[in-house]
Amino acid sequence: MSHPAHITTLLKEGRVFKPSAAFAKAAHVGGRAAWDALRRKAAKDPVRFWEERARELLWAKPWRKALDWKFPFAKWFVGGRLNVSANCLDRHLDGPRANKAALVWEGEPGDQRTLTYRQLHREVCVFANALKRLGVKAGDRVAIYMPMVPEAAVAMLACARLGAPHSVVFAGFSAEALRDRIQDAGAKVVIAADGGWRKGAVVPLKAAVDEAVAQCPAVEKVVILRRTGQGVSMKDGRDVWWHDAVQGASADCPAVGHDSENPLFILYTSGSTGKPKGVLHTTGGYLTHAAYTARLVFDLKETDVFWCTADIGWVTGHSYVVYGPLANGATVFMYEGAPMTPAPDRFWDMIERHGVTVFYTAPTAIRAFVRLGGEHPAKHDLSSLRLLGTVGEPINPEAWLWYHEAIGGGRCPIVDTWWQTETGGIMISPLPGATPTKPGSATVPLPGIEAAVVDREGNPVPKGAGGLLAVRRPWPGMLRSVWGDPERYRSQYFSQIPGCYFTGDGARTDKDGYFWILGRVDDVINVAGHRLSTMEIESALVGHPRVAEAAVVGHPDELKGQGITAFVTMRGGAEPVTSEELKATVTKAIGAIARPDVVRFTESLPKTRSGKIMRRLLRDIASGEKPTGDTTTLEDFAALARLQAAQEE
Ligand code: PRX
Repeated sequence: MSHPAHITTLLKEGRVFKPSAAFAKAAHVGGRAAWDALRRKAAKDPVRFWEERARELLWAKPWRKALDWKFPFAKWFVGGRLNVSANCLDRHLDGPRANKAALVWEGEPGDQRTLTYRQLHREVCVFANALKRLGVKAGDRVAIYMPMVPEAAVAMLACARLGAPHSVVFAGFSAEALRDRIQDAGAKVVIAADGGWRKGAVVPLKAAVDEAVAQCPAVEKVVILRRTGQGVSMKDGRDVWWHDAVQGASADCPAVGHDSENPLFILYTSGSTGKPKGVLHTTGGYLTHAAYTARLVFDLKETDVFWCTADIGWVTGHSYVVYGPLANGATVFMYEGAPMTPAPDRFWDMIERHGVTVFYTAPTAIRAFVRLGGEHPAKHDLSSLRLLGTVGEPINPEAWLWYHEAIGGGRCPIVDTWWQTETGGIMISPLPGATPTKPGSATVPLPGIEAAVVDREGNPVPKGAGGLLAVRRPWPGMLRSVWGDPERYRSQYFSQIPGCYFTGDGARTDKDGYFWILGRVDDVINVAGHRLSTMEIESALVGHPRVAEAAVVGHPDELKGQGITAFVTMRGGAEPVTSEELKATVTKAIGAIARPDVVRFTESLPKTRSGKIMRRLLRDIASGEKPTGDTTTLEDFAALARLQAAQEE
């Protein structure tokens, strides 16, 4: 289906999609009245509203105070104690959920495993005891670098059980990126695998771990899961196989209550500077937010099979593969590999075979499926699906409508969920049984969240006008700090708009108050739903001995949302390098996700008289447009003219 003109008309008509009466009737929040009542309650006393949500969890000790807010530092459920893994596992063992599937997993080669809540609980307890034997205590940081296998979730939950904050590093990051993250967090144990399966091949992970850990003297132990079975070298005294580590470990591992503000995890994300930020999330508030949003936004029921396609290396995998759904006792489906392996219908085949009911993925994936054509999903019975979701980037209406028809059969509501690594959980989203949706809009903030589109002074901008997306009140899932750098936390998020958390995104609201996200306003680009810092890629490029200067900007990409263009100048007299060599330099420093699509060599970069690179102009050039706007401060008109000329060739 590809009728852009038709879609434009739809948008002009302002067509909205209302949940069906049948969906609304069965939903946790069904219909306008129930939704309004919830919103009114939350608006009247947000802190009390969140306390009610927190009471839905299992606490070892109640909190004294719900919120301690000393701008910009928040503490939620102060004095309370709880165990995240007990909330995700132990509390489901008293009733019929004990023998219900917690994880249904499929590996890329087609191998399958199902773990009931009882079995998952056992594996987590055994592995937590194994970690204890290796010396892991509450407060110790543990790095996890694993493919999408059940043990990745087991490792996270075992760390949570012990109160040892985990730092999951996406297995697509390079050895250098892994090393930086291990060092920054001061991790003393690394949990990894020999490799994982992707596109029919083994992605080796152990070699990257060896290269990284060689420069991390604080790392005492490395636990390696045997997944792919290829030969790896094990370092005596440091490396231990997972299957050996759990030998003889007891399945009895009492879940001690940890302080509500104990760190649960650190997750590195790109900011507008070159150095990744360790976003810190804590225990009680994070789980309250993840559990509440998983239940309401995905309308989770006892009978659902929930599939969030995100990798556990990203926040979406933390909140909606592991913590949110398991806290609700849901059945989670997890898949290891690539979406089109061995055939373009792999996803639809798995939805049919496993009876997936709720499916949550990224617009990039949807656009790739649109391109492949509707015949692949059409080959499968997708009637088990009842709800669809998207996350990570704005979804274009054409892709939204295709998703609605080709995957959802026209009957499934779509929840377009806006949130960030920093927010911990979903912030702006429809409630599927209540909120009328408009293709391309994440609709309105969830009850309990006070987001607004404002100007630099924090004043609301009029409806229809663009502005900055900000959050005006603390919420339980918010990051607590940047690991080891509270000053960066303050300056990055709380210094730009008085009194508000600044998201880094631009947005506008329409006449109905619906939010339309306009993308990043800082030096961050969103490639296939993954945030990358332009400066991080630039510093990788200038790390090449022959590169003098680099400027990286995003260009529109039909599939990935944004692609990466790098403009580079070479050192005087240096031998030329190929663009392939520079792309490889970035892959080595960060990982293949940051590899530039286009490298453009230039004699100089357009700069202002004060020496600032004029990225706006470069963005125009990279997008194939004539540079627009004010160029009066440009120092070297010739540089711009040459770049433009090169483009027109
Ligand atoms: O720009 C927004 C975009 O992704 C950014 C957050 O990226 P990250 O921390 O990697 O987390 C992604 C998954 C939660 C946001 O600042 N973004 C995320 N969701 C949406 C979105 N843009 C538009 N619509 C969305 N639904």
